Amino acid sequence: MEPSFWHDKWQLQQIGFHQPQVNPFLVKYWPQLAVNSSTEVFVPLCGKTLDMCYLAELGHNVLGCELSQTAVEDFFKENCLPVESKSKGEHQYFATEQVTLIQGDIFTLPQNITQSIDAFYDRAALIAWPEEMRQQYALQLAQLIPANVKGLLITLDYPQAELNGPPFAVSPQWIEQYLAPYFDVEVLECADVLADNPRFIKKEVTWLNEAAYLLTRKS
Ligand SMILES: C[S@@+](CC[C@H](N)C(=O)[O-])C[C@H]1O[C@@H](n2cnc3c(N)ncnc32)[C@H](O)[C@@H]1O
Repeated sequence: MEPSFWHDKWQLQQIGFHQPQVNPFLVKYWPQLAVNSSTEVFVPLCGKTLDMCYLAELGHNVLGCELSQTAVEDFFKENCLPVESKSKGEHQYFATEQVTLIQGDIFTLPQNITQSIDAFYDRAALIAWPEEMRQQYALQLAQLIPANVKGLLITLDYPQAELNGPPFAVSPQWIEQYLAPYFDVEVLECADVLADNPRFIKKEVTWLNEAAYLLTRKS
């Protein structure tokens, strides 16, 4: 999706992807990464997700990247966090204790910015891209994640012909083809979540799975 698509979504507050609670897969599977609590977690395409608050409450320093300045400002405002901002190149950094959100395009984020991360968390980032851009995102993610760093990936899969994305369907086969060259991939869970998603039911989508994967960047 082009940047204007997401800027419009945020401006019109059409942000159905934003969850009012912490993602249950994050709560359930984060401990499996076994990363120390005081370490830094990268959250690509972070929106204003409360999952970042959860990670910070565990003790992590959170480093998010998000295109929309509205999303970034709303995150700090809605969580009553004081914030300082500064520009670096074409990106703007918004920081409070334990959380730094880099506002700008993930495709132009320099690799050195993420070289000290100890883990990453991708929920609704991989599935935000149509096929061709998703392959480019997979490559950029691989370039940003240092060797041996683990991450939790949460995806959706459904018959793509039955509904237009986003979110786009991402199958286990796609993960195997495009992420396995860079990451060791372990499926943690694949759950039928159709009953919890009225939009998919309304559009008569016949099945919908949410999956959690543990990824480890290959050396
Ligand atoms: C589907 S939302 C997911 C947000 C968040 N991960 C969540 O779980 O709520 C995708 C987000 O990616 C952001 N985004 C889209 N393209 C981007 C880009 N090139 N660089 C950084 N962020 C981008 C959008 O503004 C949007 O907030």
